[in-house]
Amino acid sequence: MKKETKYRCKVCGYETIMKLGRCPNCGSWNSFEEVENKKSLRTKKKSPVIIESLKEERIKTGFVGFDELLGGGIVRGSIILLSGEPGIGKSTLLLQISLNIAKGKGNVLYISGEESPLQISSRLTRITKSSPKNLYFLYETDIETVVNAVKELKPVLTIVDSIQTMREEGVSSLSGSPTQVRNATDRLMHIAKTHGIPIIIVGHVTKVGDIAGPKILEHLVDTVLYLEGERYQMYRILRSKKNRFGSTQELVLFSMEEEGLKEVKNPSQYFLTEREKEIPGSVILPTIESGMKPLLVEVQALVVTSYLPQPRRVSVGIDYTKLSILIAIMEKYLKLPLYKYDIYVNVTGGVKIVEPASDLPVIVSIYSSLKDIPTSNFVSFGEVGLGGEIRNVSLMKKRYKEALKLGYKNFILPSSMQKEFEKSEGGRNIFIKTVYNLIGNLK
Ligand SMILES: Nc1ncnc2c1ncn2[C@@H]1O[C@H](COP(=O)(O)OP(=O)(O)OP(=O)(O)O)[C@@H](O)[C@H]1O
Ligand SMILES: [Mg+2]
Repeated sequence: MKKETKYRCKVCGYETIMKLGRCPNCGSWNSFEEVENKKSLRTKKKSPVIIESLKEERIKTGFVGFDELLGGGIVRGSIILLSGEPGIGKSTLLLQISLNIAKGKGNVLYISGEESPLQISSRLTRITKSSPKNLYFLYETDIETVVNAVKELKPVLTIVDSIQTMREEGVSSLSGSPTQVRNATDRLMHIAKTHGIPIIIVGHVTKVGDIAGPKILEHLVDTVLYLEGERYQMYRILRSKKNRFGSTQELVLFSMEEEGLKEVKNPSQYFLTEREKEIPGSVILPTIESGMKPLLVEVQALVVTSYLPQPRRVSVGIDYTKLSILIAIMEKYLKLPLYKYDIYVNVTGGVKIVEPASDLPVIVSIYSSLKDIPTSNFVSFGEVGLGGEIRNVSLMKKRYKEALKLGYKNFILPSSMQKEFEKSEGGRNIFIKTVYNLIGNLK
């Protein structure tokens, strides 16, 4: 074996043969550490194999929506990363899946580097009355021991909670550091692929939303799932961010109950408030964040006279900068003195909207609250440009039809949809070309 030295960036994993002051990949300063570069002098040989198209066998988790999100269940030998903010319910969901699989399909190994068997057992008593015999727990942080345990038990499913607690003794960095996280994931991947054992690993996310121990993890694994929601609210959303084995549905909605997480059958209806009377400052947005299925959420705004030298702008669920831009557009093109008002915008249920389709609903709800015009029975979507023009967004017909299906009949839409949807289905269709068209149309 010939030893050479190379340097690896602790933040992003970029490798060079020279020690650099600043990483050319991620821009971090003094982030390089020395790693050994082992070069084998032996000629390595391995015979390539012919891949037959085998019918892949998927393991059902007992959660219909979860299986659909994965494309039909867990693929054998795959590595799934489940991430989410602290306390959101990752361990609860994985314990429930472990229980379901252990009940019917064989041994499940749950490795925890965070919680002692006593803590897990208290969660277990919360979610089930009878614990199956073939659900095994291991409280361990040493990756070598973990890998050996998986090799020995050969479970149908392995859970590693969490990847940030796993460490290898010979590696000098602390647990949770990119080097340790990367190394532990590599080891787990190897065992998953060679033995055909699926492994679900938990990854914590940092405040900025990255999976701690940077994004490299997302590239390594086969599937990335995000569990999100407001910790103090009942519901949780599970999204698939990456899936090498196909995804048929874009999100699953759960509600957190005393006995653990329960799948919600009709997610859209869950986010909408049932009202007898129409109110101002509210409009429905059918949002499509990453997949194909629209989810209906309510965008609300409250506009009140400001008594502060600088008016308040508060935004929950919508990007703050985006809100400032939209307010500026309204001031300019609708000639509204919004500097005199405090503006609060909220997406109900704590859903975070990133896509530009929320621009028009935000403007409509602010306008509606300011002018006291009820819009809560209206559905709207559209991107708004800096010139106040309304732009198309993706899958507009799909959004329209989903809202119709759920009983909504009134729409505020980009004018490009006018040709096809001129005639409303027993309600009111308002088409707007620029924000200016709101005046006169909404009253
Ligand atoms: N008795 C209960 N009834 C309803 N919900 C509960 C109950 N006990 C705990 N929870 C919910 O479970 C959540 C904690 O779940 P869990 O420990 O699985 O989260 P986690 O994502 O694994 O957290 P961590 O990041 O700390 O590992 C709590 O935030 C709470 O919402
Ligand atoms: Mg946990």
